[in-house]
Amino acid sequence: MEHADLVILGAGAAGLFCAGSALAQGRRVIVLDHAATPAEKIRISGGGRCNFTNLATAPDRFLSDNPRFAASALARYRPQAFVDLVETAGIAWHEKTQGQLFCDGKATQITAMLLDRMAGAELRLETRIAGVERQGDRFVLETSGGAITAARVVVATGGKSIPKIGATGMAYDLARQFGLRLVETRPALVPLTFAEQDLALCRPLAGLSVEARIAHGGGAFRDALLFTHRGLSGPVILQISSFWQAGETLTIDLSPDRDIAAALKAARAGAGRAQVATVLGQMLPDRLAQAIVAETGLVQARLADQPNARLDALGARVNRWQVRPVGTEGYRTAEVTLGGVDTRDLDARTMQARQVPGLAFIGECVDVTGWLGGYNFQWAWASADAAGRAA
Ligand code: FDA
Repeated sequence: MEHADLVILGAGAAGLFCAGSALAQGRRVIVLDHAATPAEKIRISGGGRCNFTNLATAPDRFLSDNPRFAASALARYRPQAFVDLVETAGIAWHEKTQGQLFCDGKATQITAMLLDRMAGAELRLETRIAGVERQGDRFVLETSGGAITAARVVVATGGKSIPKIGATGMAYDLARQFGLRLVETRPALVPLTFAEQDLALCRPLAGLSVEARIAHGGGAFRDALLFTHRGLSGPVILQISSFWQAGETLTIDLSPDRDIAAALKAARAGAGRAQVATVLGQMLPDRLAQAIVAETGLVQARLADQPNARLDALGARVNRWQVRPVGTEGYRTAEVTLGGVDTRDLDARTMQARQVPGLAFIGECVDVTGWLGGYNFQWAWASADAAGRAA
């Protein structure tokens, strides 16, 4: 039977990075993946330009039932270490905003760099993993390419998001099989969907993007909000989706820099015959202003005729818009999976299961989920490096 020091399940961001780090320890490494192409998520990430890290990486940028768990790996593998690799590979990059680093060119440059870094390992694609068993101090893996024994196994098969490009729940099944606990999973960094009454506003505005602020469930973000045919999307919505639970109402500020009620009252004195819609259209994108005025029954209404109470209500509609999403677009479009392998059962330095020596879990399958903005890849690199060095 074939033998390797380390078999890595999953040739995504974490799996490829782990292979490179383990090779540096002189190990014989095999990486298995059922897909025909490695790291498909890197290819589609960051709108095709891969937001490969975030300079502001810190443990408080991650959600987990055990918020301190990620600190050790994140401290030992920092964003600058990855930037150094990117620069050595000659990949041009830029900071877009808020510490988010993107490739100037295609995201696949990152995959090529990771493949170069692990060139001494064997990458086996289109390989089905039928089972992983522990026999004595070794693991036996049944694969469509034959059986392999390994001293160590790293599970890097990711989360459930985007099944169309190969996501499966394999990591969770293996965790369960080996007696590890799981934190309930749900789609995160995902657009929110709405019931008909709210869609009446969203649908005609589909494609419109406005700066918005949302604070909810311990998260507070200010970024672009995008109206869609199914509800709301854009960075601020994706961020808050990780903090939102089914049934909860969100309060959205569609004009974070302006108290709309106060501004309308100030404008009222000199408004003459000006309509509410015209004045509001100077404060908000015109399409949004028209839609809100229509919804509040103030089409054609003159600003000068409006009492304070009505302007307060209009202001609240803009600065404190209350909506209750009916759900999310689910794993079909979610960028990540919240929850996963319970970190209480993993060693924070090596990512190994405390009760199963030699078996580690890394990347998205672990209950560590970053905010939008390059944090999830930084977790993939950091957790992979921790496991690779320990292998
Ligand atoms: P990943 O999903 O990358 O890899 C898992 C691998 O395991 C895949 O190759 C898969 O084929 C394989 N696999 C799964 N099941 C298997 C099985 N049963 N048998 C064999 N192989 C199996 N993050 C970020 O920081 N910046 C960004 O710009 C983006 N952008 C982005 C865009 C979109 C559209 C998505 C969906 C996601 C992002 N992300 C992101 C998130 C980021 O892609 C994600 O956090 C990492 O890819 C996770 O890396 P992993 O290696 O853990 O899983």
